[in-house]
Amino acid sequence: MTIKAYEKIWDALPFPAFVVASTGEISHANAAAEQLLSTSQKQMENRPLAYFFQENSIVVSTVKQAVKDTGSVTQYNVDVAIMGKPVTSCNVYVSFLNAALTDLLLVVQPTGVAQKMSQSLTNLSAARSVTAMAAMLAHEIRNPLAGISGAAQLLAMNANKEDMELAEMIGQETRRIGQLVDRVEHFSDQRPMDPRPVNIHDVLDRAKRAAQVGHGAHVNFSVDYDPSLPETSGDADQLLQVFQNIIKNAAEAVDEKRGEIKIRTSYNSGIKLAMQGNKTKNLPLQIEIIDNGRGIPESIISEIFDPFVSTKSNGTGLGLSLVSKIIAAHGGLVECTSLQGRTSFCVRLPIWYESKRVA
Ligand SMILES: Nc1ncnc2c1ncn2[C@@H]1O[C@H](COP(=O)(O)OP(=O)(O)OP(=O)(O)O)[C@@H](O)[C@H]1O
Ligand SMILES: [Mg+2]
Repeated sequence: MTIKAYEKIWDALPFPAFVVASTGEISHANAAAEQLLSTSQKQMENRPLAYFFQENSIVVSTVKQAVKDTGSVTQYNVDVAIMGKPVTSCNVYVSFLNAALTDLLLVVQPTGVAQKMSQSLTNLSAARSVTAMAAMLAHEIRNPLAGISGAAQLLAMNANKEDMELAEMIGQETRRIGQLVDRVEHFSDQRPMDPRPVNIHDVLDRAKRAAQVGHGAHVNFSVDYDPSLPETSGDADQLLQVFQNIIKNAAEAVDEKRGEIKIRTSYNSGIKLAMQGNKTKNLPLQIEIIDNGRGIPESIISEIFDPFVSTKSNGTGLGLSLVSKIIAAHGGLVECTSLQGRTSFCVRLPIWYESKRVA
């Protein structure tokens, strides 16, 4: 590709991006950045970031942090003040562009854009609002359901062949409703968690083994674990549910013959999540589940973590909503990117001692 083509891509990027010197001056900015700062690239060139974002801004401190750590830093959901504009919630990414460590790429992404990218953080309120109603409904459905299923069994005892089939159908369908009610109840489980150190590789192995003898029997699994990964903090059974749900979706999306699911873990020290009161929380544990399936339809990608969003004829649409709820309770974050042939769910979690310290 020619330089001109790269320039076109740079300006077509839908989020504000800057090239910044390690000393803090802007050397390039794209069209979205011009829009964000309401100024031209010419005006930005050679000016310090602090001129536009204020000296103590999180944008400036994220760049300083990356320079200090000589590595990339990502901050989620931080408040960014831009000259003359109301404070906006943004995700801020910084990474080095060259081995000499003189230039960095800075992306300041208002979370309005991030929402389109499907991220669990933005879906918590939806999960909370249905929780209470779901609990009530599940409770109220159980009694009549037991009645229907009991009556069907009685009918089946004296029925002729034709009626017997109908009675069995009632039995099957009530069992299906029963399973749905179980899942909804699970979803609305509000018991507080008692966090413990959890070895995430043990959890992933359990989820993989369960899939290999169940819904993922047709899939070729591969793992790429970082053996030095520290423990996370939380509830191993709940985390098992998270990875079972993600793996089940992946297994359901891949081809019967060429289906592949890769489970990868790594340590990424540059990932931070903004908390209330100017605090940040590190989320260095990174677990990715990548499949080579059909991908998530673009029309639902921004809603997949919402409850009851499903493209499957017998799906409840609660799987990823539960994932989002459990990961949030663990102080983590889950993100998804999807193309045809490559869908990746990335779960980010804190490490054990750190979560104790923050709590
Ligand atoms: N790995 C994936 N590849 C393709 N589509 C996916 C993937 N993961 C999730 N989806 C899409 O997201 C939707 C929501 O997933 P979710 O797990 O919440 O519900 P579901 O799988 O439809 O129902 P259930 O989990 O109750 O079986 C799915 O219906 C599917 O369209
Ligand atoms: Mg599912």
